[in-house]
Amino acid sequence: MTLLKAAAEVRENAYAPYSRFKVGAALRGKSGAMYRGCNVENVAYPEGTCAEAGAIAAMVAAGETEFIELCVIADSPSPVPPCGGCRQKLAEFARSEVPVTLATTDGKQMHTTVGDLLPGRFDPSHMDRA
Ligand code: THU
Repeated sequence: MTLLKAAAEVRENAYAPYSRFKVGAALRGKSGAMYRGCNVENVAYPEGTCAEAGAIAAMVAAGETEFIELCVIADSPSPVPPCGGCRQKLAEFARSEVPVTLATTDGKQMHTTVGDLLPGRFDPSHMDRA
C-alpha cells in the first residue's frame, strides 16, 4: 500500500468533532514498515493531538526511531502544512532530506522535505555546553 493511501484511510478514523477537520498521516520507518496516525481532539482543546504526532507515536511504540518518508492528507483547498510543533517533532526522527508529501483529498499535492519545513531548527548540538 502507498503512504498516500494509508494516510487517506487512517484519516477516516480521525476524531475531530470540534474542528471537523480530519487529518491523516502515514510514515515509512527505516525498516520499511508503515505507521499511521490521525488527529485526536479533546473538549479541552489544547489536549488534542495532530495526525503527525500519532504516526510518530506509533513508530516509536513499535521500536523504531527513524522514518524515511512521510505523507499527510486533509480535505483542504490546498495541501495542509504541519503545524510548528509537529515540524519540531518530525525533525527529531528524520534526516533533513527526508521527503514529505502534503496532499488534499481531491488530489492536489505539494512536495517538500523535513529540513525545508523547519530551517534553523533546534538540535542537540545547541546543548553542547550543557
Ligand atoms: N492538524 C493535524 O492533525 N495536522 C496538521 O498538519 C494540521 C492540523 C489537526 C489539529 C486539529 O485537530 C485540526 O487539525 C485543526 O487544527
